[in-house]
Amino acid sequence: MAAEAQQSNEFKRLAAERAVEFVASGMVVGLGHGTTSAFAIARLGELLRTGSLSRITGIPCSKQTEAGARQAGIPVGTLDDHPSIDIVIDGADEVDPKLNMIKGGGGALLREKVVAEASKRRVYIVDETKLVPALGTLRAVPVEAIPYASKSLFPYLQSLKTQPGLRMANDGSLFLTDQGNVIIDCKTGPLSQPEDLAAALRSRAGIVEHGLFLHLATDVIVAGPKGIRHLKP
Ligand code: A5P
Repeated sequence: MAAEAQQSNEFKRLAAERAVEFVASGMVVGLGHGTTSAFAIARLGELLRTGSLSRITGIPCSKQTEAGARQAGIPVGTLDDHPSIDIVIDGADEVDPKLNMIKGGGGALLREKVVAEASKRRVYIVDETKLVPALGTLRAVPVEAIPYASKSLFPYLQSLKTQPGLRMANDGSLFLTDQGNVIIDCKTGPLSQPEDLAAALRSRAGIVEHGLFLHLATDVIVAGPKGIRHLKP
């Protein structure tokens, strides 16, 4: 692995392990999707194995996360059985100074937002490269849409001054989410009013959810060369 990727992984691990310190025995824990969340899941599993934590129930944000949680030995539950979650720990693609975020790089944004909105505490873990002055600076905004509507949404998304592109999987096939939907990645450039774009995306039939996570984070843990920072909105 290249030195840069190795260092970024180390920062992700440090942020994840700090976030897991917020978990207490008996809690229902939302488990995010992605490489950073995977470090949190591994740490939770370790603490359960050593007996430092007990009676944890994990609510996974994706099928992949569910498999990872089971492998780590974390008992897995459902939102139906646990409609109120104590804490969710998840990664993010971009975080702005107000702790608004873009999520969905891994395609799990819909379940991630459902789990976040059901959680009392919402902790996001990132390495420092994810911090941006404005959302949209580095990453596109993922929009989850039903396959039936996908191409018909492009003129609308262009009218919102975004450049939409249908996400493809690594093997060249259409990327489909755990819900069987498509993802349209919308390049925007830096957004001065992400709330306006979020409202416009919400108002269109066929769009199921978008990756703007606004006013949701209660805590962001950032790890970088200068150490770990705990940010609150
Ligand atoms: C998944 O859909 C995303 O929201 C991830 O949480 C986000 O892409 C962060 O992923 P990494 O932790 O792999 O960078």
